[in-house]
Amino acid sequence: MSRTAIVTGGSRGIGAAISVALKEAGYRVAANYAGNDEAAQTFRDQTGIPVYKWSVADYDACVDGIRKVEDELGSVGILVNNAGITRDTPFHKMTREQWTEVINTNLNGVFNMTHPLWNGMRERKFGRVITISSINGQKGQFGQVNYSASKAGDLGFTKSLAQEGARAGITVNAICPGYIATDMVMAVPEKVREAIVAQIPVGRLGEAAEIARCVVFLASDEAGFITGSTLTANGGQYLA
Ligand code: CAA
Repeated sequence: MSRTAIVTGGSRGIGAAISVALKEAGYRVAANYAGNDEAAQTFRDQTGIPVYKWSVADYDACVDGIRKVEDELGSVGILVNNAGITRDTPFHKMTREQWTEVINTNLNGVFNMTHPLWNGMRERKFGRVITISSINGQKGQFGQVNYSASKAGDLGFTKSLAQEGARAGITVNAICPGYIATDMVMAVPEKVREAIVAQIPVGRLGEAAEIARCVVFLASDEAGFITGSTLTANGGQYLA
């Protein structure tokens, strides 16, 4: 019987590519999304992957959403914490709201999704928790104090939880994408983006499918010895 995977933020950008790649690899996939109904319906119609709406920033909503997915698709073995937002601005202009929104989605959201699934994975002696962090959690980025802090937090979460899951057959890993051609990166002012691409040795933005392939690998049974690791995929921009 194939395994069930939840991909948060799974109907757009990197998340959509991950949902599709996992489906193609034989998993039953639930794509979570928080806001963009139109994009989610289009994604569902084009891929046949069911979409589920809740905010990962809301713990109770995660509990309810996970229960619905498990009722419909079976126990979740693979969690891909992909949902993430930016509120880029220099620190001297950053509001508490911009700080809190980013931490609540990118860091607390990882707790909110992983925590309700953890005991089930422990009982079944199998789990894959794969969190999409970022190059900017590794190196920092002007204008992203909130985002970089959240993404660095995701790496600490991963390294600690990996140690707790190891004996229970659960691997916990992070992927740090560099700049990938998604709406999020396209929202960066063009001049800034051009300057960023100039810093990428391969000379281009990454493709969402290139991150999705990393997820499929880490989700597989063959990756059972890999835990607590950070898989860097950034075109050589930052050598962690
Ligand atoms: N390093 C040093 N100084 C910088 C700088 C940098 N990288 N970027 C801007 N500055 C300077 C400017 O030159 C300017 O200086 P002066 O006042 O002396 O001219 C000052 O900072 C203020 O610049 P702005 O007026 O442009 O400030 P702003 O309020 O408009 O905000 C910004 C600028 C929002 C931070 C903008 O630079 C930006 O969007 N930067 C991109 C941040 C980024 O890389 N985000 C990644 C998004 S994609 C993502 O997050 C996915 C992922 O995981 C990779």
